[in-house]
Amino acid sequence: MNPDRGDSMVAAAPDDVAMRAYYAARAREYERIYDKPERQTDLRLLEREIPTLLSGRRVLEIACGTGYWTQFIATSANYVLATDINAETLREARAKQLDPALVEYRLADAYALDPGGGRFDAAFAGFWWSHLPLQRVPQFLGSLTACLEPGALVLMLDNRYVPGSSTPLGRTDEQGNTYQTRHLQDGSRHEVLKNFPQAAQLRMQLDGWADSVEFRELEHYWLCRWTVRAGLGS
Ligand SMILES: C[S@@+](CC[C@H](N)C(=O)[O-])C[C@H]1O[C@@H](n2cnc3c(N)ncnc32)[C@H](O)[C@@H]1O
Repeated sequence: MNPDRGDSMVAAAPDDVAMRAYYAARAREYERIYDKPERQTDLRLLEREIPTLLSGRRVLEIACGTGYWTQFIATSANYVLATDINAETLREARAKQLDPALVEYRLADAYALDPGGGRFDAAFAGFWWSHLPLQRVPQFLGSLTACLEPGALVLMLDNRYVPGSSTPLGRTDEQGNTYQTRHLQDGSRHEVLKNFPQAAQLRMQLDGWADSVEFRELEHYWLCRWTVRAGLGS
């Protein structure tokens, strides 16, 4: 994957259009989610632990958004290529002015990553797995794995459903995906796919792709780590 600072458009698949538009509109207010008081203890732990796990690695970050996690990963990684489908979120990420020798940004669709260049021995995605439609998990795993070295470390961080803290779930579709109705500061209303997998479901989804799967639950978050299965990767 060749770093590229251009902000030319990346086409979203039809079922990703609404998600993409929602996060583009939310970009400037996105990091308010990290202010929730009840989540602060977990966040401080993860802000220490994730950079420790990725120390010295060349990290491909998927759906980096405003670069909240990028800024912590950059304290210990050798290099980070932070990718997202939205120019609006990448603009917020770039405003953090991280060392350009260490962190580069690129517009990229997580389902169609470019395996063509760059070598990554680690990947990270925060709050992306929960937005994967169940039927597209294999496509995402194929896209990601093709960009990683065999044995590369993968970290996925996401939300647990916590009544009173999480946005309530609305409908469930025929594939089993669940949805939330969310509101932005401008008053707009968005239905957003948000899944809350249990450990057993995640392990099944990773079957054939991952070795050494570890799943850890905090009060508000889960962190899943695995290594790219021997024989897979680039
Ligand atoms: C919940 S936010 C996570 C942002 C960041 N990782 C974090 O933890 O703060 C989800 C991100 O996914 C991005 N996104 C949506 N569809 C995408 C796609 N097909 N490929 C890559 N990124 C996508 C959105 O622009 C948004 O920044």
